[in-house]
Amino acid sequence: MEVRDRQGAVGEAHGKVILVGEHVVVYNKPAIAIPFPLSIRAIVKEHMGEISIDSSMYVGNLGGMPSKMLGLAQTIYRCLELCQQPKEGIHIKIESEIPMGRGLGSSASVATAIVRGIYNHFQKPLLEEELYSLVEIAENYAHGKPSGIDMRTVTSEEPIFYQKSQGSSCLASPKPFYMVVADTGEIGDTKTAVAHVNELRQQRLSMINAIIDEIEAIVWKAKDAILTGDSKLLGNLLLMNHENLKKLEVSNLMLDHLVETAMRAGALGAKLTGGGMGGCIIALTKDMTDARKVGEALIKEGAKTVWYFSTHSKELIRIKR
Ligand code: PMV
Repeated sequence: MEVRDRQGAVGEAHGKVILVGEHVVVYNKPAIAIPFPLSIRAIVKEHMGEISIDSSMYVGNLGGMPSKMLGLAQTIYRCLELCQQPKEGIHIKIESEIPMGRGLGSSASVATAIVRGIYNHFQKPLLEEELYSLVEIAENYAHGKPSGIDMRTVTSEEPIFYQKSQGSSCLASPKPFYMVVADTGEIGDTKTAVAHVNELRQQRLSMINAIIDEIEAIVWKAKDAILTGDSKLLGNLLLMNHENLKKLEVSNLMLDHLVETAMRAGALGAKLTGGGMGGCIIALTKDMTDARKVGEALIKEGAKTVWYFSTHSKELIRIKR
């Protein structure tokens, strides 16, 4: 990976989409996620005085960061401690292609890019577990108690099968899958969505546990569908997973509308992805031609941006409203 360009040391990470198992992964059930080829770059260079940040959300000194970004400030301070450097003297510029709050992994990706950028700047080797523990500081702040699936996926080049107590393993498929991602344009709040599921579970334990178990069964079947390249089965499983997420009350009218639109336009399956209550849906199609057709229908029906891609290629095609 490129670690330094003319402007300074570079750290990078990509986005992610969760295929199946979001929310239940918080309860130590498995989930499957794939890398999403939009990236974030953090460029770190030496500068006099206080640490400064230049991002689309905030420009200024680290000390004056808005409360939403305080987790990132803690990650940065901890990086400097571990690199045995004073807490001053660097400037961090963040360039992001990943829209925020859409379940596409922007928070884990920005923290990962920053940690990598700082370690590259000080030419200190970065072990995987050290990276995760540093990103976790920011993720804990942003999400409360994240499962860890986001940070594992934004650092993986392959789809992953993840379970909190077991860690992650790569899930390579013999055939490409064709995916469409559609952004509602509404910011989802993962922290609120996770807290809502927890509340529901406390109120109706056996009913919610049964839904969680159903989603777990879907995830195991989805793993087999990926390993055998069975896109029809995977499509059905996505749709079943969406129905269960509706029962967990993390979907909304627009997400449901886009899922229905994708199905009417010929998708093999569709569901919300990530925390929900806004954010994105994903749809699975037979091929790239159908992916375009589904993408165009989604834009017509209100999606703000649509991307489509093959899981075996880095090319990402975007359709904008
Ligand atoms: O960051 P998001 O919105 O993609 O949500 C992550 C997935 C959840 O399962 C809802 C939360 C988690 O920590 O795994």
